[in-house]
Amino acid sequence: MIKNTTIEVVPGKLTLIVGPSGSGKSTLLSMLSGLLRPDQGEVRALGVNLWAQNENALDRFRLEHCGFVFQGFNLFNALTAHENVALPLQYLGVSSTEAHQRAKKALQEVGLEPRSHLRPAELSGGEKQRVAIARALVKNPEMIFADEPTSALDKVNGEIVIELLKRITRDHGATVLGVTHDPRLLSHADRVIELEDGEVVRDTATTAPNHPSKDNPHATS
Ligand SMILES: Nc1ncnc2c1ncn2[C@@H]1O[C@H](COP(=O)(O)OP(=O)(O)OP(=O)(O)O)[C@@H](O)[C@H]1O
Ligand SMILES: [Mg+2]
Repeated sequence: MIKNTTIEVVPGKLTLIVGPSGSGKSTLLSMLSGLLRPDQGEVRALGVNLWAQNENALDRFRLEHCGFVFQGFNLFNALTAHENVALPLQYLGVSSTEAHQRAKKALQEVGLEPRSHLRPAELSGGEKQRVAIARALVKNPEMIFADEPTSALDKVNGEIVIELLKRITRDHGATVLGVTHDPRLLSHADRVIELEDGEVVRDTATTAPNHPSKDNPHATS
């Protein structure tokens, strides 16, 4: 249960939410990303009052503006890495030629283009998560949400994944909001928000903040 919380997420930065198990990290991330309706309060993203939208508009908003990366990768096992990455573009109505090129480029960006013909079962955990990142990236979303993206990975692959997310904020100007248990990742973040029992208990900027843009912040309460 999230309560008494107002958060403004700064665009173009990597923000990590930390806190004990059950403190509400996943709940908060789901509310901010349009996956879980809050009982009270509101979420504003890109000038849109998210929870005032109907289901279709909300689905569309997520499809067009949000990328998701989860602990369990959530890839389709029957599809190759390339097909997994191209899939969201099909939903967006992008032509198959363009989808092919963009998927290729996204897989290049995560260093997996040579393995793009393989299916998830043939990839390591770290590689699967890089495919999931490419799938988020291929839409060029303003926002990427990542719930425990490194929890299923060893230290080296965890670092690779968090560095990729960091690079996406730098190179694409995307806003990345992640949840983690892993203290080793915190040094990579621009900002760390600590939750306890559904409330923010600490909010630490580790790099100089951008000027928050009026049309990108998220807030909930
Ligand atoms: N769908 C749900 N219905 C009711 N309560 C829920 C639901 N999902 C989570 N909760 C409760 O909300 C609280 C916060 O859960 P949440 O999953 O956000 O924690 P978390 O910080 O992500 O924990 P973890 O680190 O274990 O993933 C918990 O007490 C949990 O039991
Ligand atoms: Mg969680």
